[in-house]
Amino acid sequence: MKKVIITIDGWSSCGKSTLAKQLAKQLGYVYIDSGAMYRAITLYFLRQTVDLNSKKEVTKALENITLEFEYNEKSQQSEILLNGENVEYMIRDMIVAEKVSDVAAVKEVREFAVDQQKKMGKKKGIIMDGRDIGTTVFPRAELKFFMTADIAIRVERRFKEMYEKNPNVSIEEVKNNLEMRDYIDSNREVSPLRQAKDAIVLDNTNLTMEQQLKYALGIAQNAIEMANPA
Ligand code: DC
Repeated sequence: MKKVIITIDGWSSCGKSTLAKQLAKQLGYVYIDSGAMYRAITLYFLRQTVDLNSKKEVTKALENITLEFEYNEKSQQSEILLNGENVEYMIRDMIVAEKVSDVAAVKEVREFAVDQQKKMGKKKGIIMDGRDIGTTVFPRAELKFFMTADIAIRVERRFKEMYEKNPNVSIEEVKNNLEMRDYIDSNREVSPLRQAKDAIVLDNTNLTMEQQLKYALGIAQNAIEMANPA
């Protein structure tokens, strides 16, 4: 069976990674969270107080970064390693969320991440979620989704998720962060968040997770069949 590449782009917190993980499990594909790569780079930059306006500092920092994904049997998901250290949970912190869009807008950072993402897709059989996967990383992917949902729903979902980890987080803080990231991500110069022309739009404002999975899985199975004509 020939495998395909499935891309999922969209606004912050509209459930891209949830859908990507479910689809990967159903199809036996590998899920890659490209946002985790930008978050891990951001964590490194914060720790090393890298000046984003200094091309020299950014380039030097990137030379010292190795990113890998490792499957964790216990959590049953791929987790990101920054220079060998598992930072999967640390990168979900608000401190990283507040800085990640600025870091992800830097040209050298994008080149670094996109180059690695392209290599990960060489063997196909992957589902990658992010902001520019269907437009820049895999413009020829067999199947592209563009996800969206009402801002109020997205805030509520992200707030619940963050509140479980940190009860000090406020709903305003979460809302401001989502709006700020959406703004920066869609207005940056280098590969901004855009809906690919050939992407299928999935608005899940009024869909349950089961309905969404059923719908997306049907489309994915169809795309795989099309890639494997009898
Ligand atoms: O998917 P996420 O929320 O974990 O992504 C974190 C940030 O990383 C997001 O605000 C923008 C950036 N990002 C990006 O610029 N391009 C990607 N392909 C994925 C994420």
